[in-house]
Amino acid sequence: MQAVSIDSFFYSSCRLKFAIVSLFHIMAEDLNIVIGTKKEQYESIISQIKGLLQGETDFIANLANITAALKEQFHWLWIGFYLVKNEELVLAPFQGPVACTRIKKGRGVCGTAWAQAKTLIVSDVEKFPGHIACSSLSKSEIVIPVIRNEEVIAVLDVDSESLNSFDKDDKYYLEQIVELIPIS
Ligand code: SME
Repeated sequence: MQAVSIDSFFYSSCRLKFAIVSLFHIMAEDLNIVIGTKKEQYESIISQIKGLLQGETDFIANLANITAALKEQFHWLWIGFYLVKNEELVLAPFQGPVACTRIKKGRGVCGTAWAQAKTLIVSDVEKFPGHIACSSLSKSEIVIPVIRNEEVIAVLDVDSESLNSFDKDDKYYLEQIVELIPIS
């Protein structure tokens, strides 16, 4: 029988660990993007978001993966979070063009959704008084507050290049998604 040195055993064990870790990385990186109705797309991406959040407690890491997953599935112009910090919304993980970094309570669609603690659907941003245009390409928008212990702690903002992009189905599913975010 061939003798196995401590060095070669250690080397094989490291290689095995590397292979297992790589496998999990591949699983985390490979999103399954579906073509189908809006409902089918949301249901597919929500189950994958649950997988991405599983076992991860870091708030920012989870926000980052949620924005990436939703952007890959829906290709919206912009999707991202603003966090409530010292009476302002401050830009947090997002996907899309650079954006305004700070928004006051009650200002724009985001600040209004925060002040009212409710989801706002804006079918034409030009018709929303005080809308903050971070990008001239944005035509419609939905903002969902993230509420914990009856306090708004963040908002999820989604912008589209088309008018009338968001409806009650987006509200329903995006509200479910923000509920999934673990707060430690
Ligand atoms: N339009 C938002 C500002 C944020 S950006 O769209 C990313 C608003 O009116 O609050």
